Amino acid sequence: MNFYADAIESLKEKTLYRKLVESDVTYKNLISFASNDYFGLSQNAAVKKAARDAIKKYGVGSGGSRYITGNNSLYTKLEKEIARIKKCDEAIVFSSGYACAIGVIPALVCDGDLIVADRLIHTSLIDGAKLSGARMMRFLHNDVEHARRILTENRSKFKKCLILTETVFSMDGDLGRIEELLKLAEEFDAILTSDAAHDLFLQDSSHEGGEESQEPSLRDSSLKLGMPSAGIKHLKLGTLSKAVGTLGGYVAGEQILIDYLRIFAKPVIYSTALPASILAASIASLKIIENKNLGKNLGKSIGKKVLKNAEYFCDLMGLPKPQTAIVPIILGDNQRVVKIAAKLEELGFLISAIRPPTVEKNKARLRITFSSEHKKNQIKKLAEILSKTLKIL
Ligand SMILES: Cc1ncc(COP(=O)(O)O)c(C=O)c1O
Repeated sequence: MNFYADAIESLKEKTLYRKLVESDVTYKNLISFASNDYFGLSQNAAVKKAARDAIKKYGVGSGGSRYITGNNSLYTKLEKEIARIKKCDEAIVFSSGYACAIGVIPALVCDGDLIVADRLIHTSLIDGAKLSGARMMRFLHNDVEHARRILTENRSKFKKCLILTETVFSMDGDLGRIEELLKLAEEFDAILTSDAAHDLFLQDSSHEGGEESQEPSLRDSSLKLGMPSAGIKHLKLGTLSKAVGTLGGYVAGEQILIDYLRIFAKPVIYSTALPASILAASIASLKIIENKNLGKNLGKSIGKKVLKNAEYFCDLMGLPKPQTAIVPIILGDNQRVVKIAAKLEELGFLISAIRPPTVEKNKARLRITFSSEHKKNQIKKLAEILSKTLKIL
């Protein structure tokens, strides 16, 4: 018993103890710069209506796993939408991004296989890797040459191989080097598994114009022509709980691999299916994201708005130009980040104080996230208050 009490005491001493707060009560009157609801869609009227309508029709629970009673036809619709947006053959929706990662990775690799992973990947991917029993080797963050060295020295000693990274790193807000890692995957006969939990669920920027996005990818056309598949090289993981504003994880990729995962990823089989209301809400939400980003007036795209808001803040604060909606201010000191976040809360703003083990030791930080719904004056006020607070605390 003492072990557990001592562990808690030790966390308290290091300012690493965490307490759950009732967010609807405590954060009610705060302006939030801490949420991953990048388009505010969790509160969107049309999305809420889609959920309410589905509850009326199907009830609140699914009653069983997907292979028993839970596979509502809305799963098919949602998975088709995700596959289309992600330019993949097929997709599977899981109950969460976490469930997806700990289901997909152990289904793909096991003892005798190799995982080469970026040092800053999310815990869900690390846990999936550990659960798989495969040997995991880490490369320095976004250091493709380091990944290459690891592969050169080790690939031949193992059977299958996965490379793990993120498209948007959740605590640093920088972009993963997907194209370069995909080339490595091809060269070393590995599968690149990228987690896009924090992307904005937009088409590639080269496809923002609209019509172009409907074009099938080269790989799709080779399949249609009956040509042999180029190989299974890229699996796309992600979540519906952030930009989409609802709940659920997904994996998208080539047909044969997704077919395999539907049978071998355990959360698909041994966990109750999502309620229809969540599936319906996700479908409604994806439609809104697409409509608001593929219109003729690209200046008004909600994807661009999120980035512009983050840029405006970074300009005011003298920070480097952000790559995504996530802006970290790394301070290092656990106590200091907690104090600053508490001060901001007193002044009406919610920002996250992120400490180890979520980030590495001595890398505690303020994590500020932007939404298309933020107003310029709110961002300006936050920058003013934060600049002052950073000087005194
Ligand atoms: C990078 C990353 N991957 C996966 C997850 C897990 O997704 P979910 O919240 O849907 O379980 C998160 C979020 O918590 C995340 O930040």
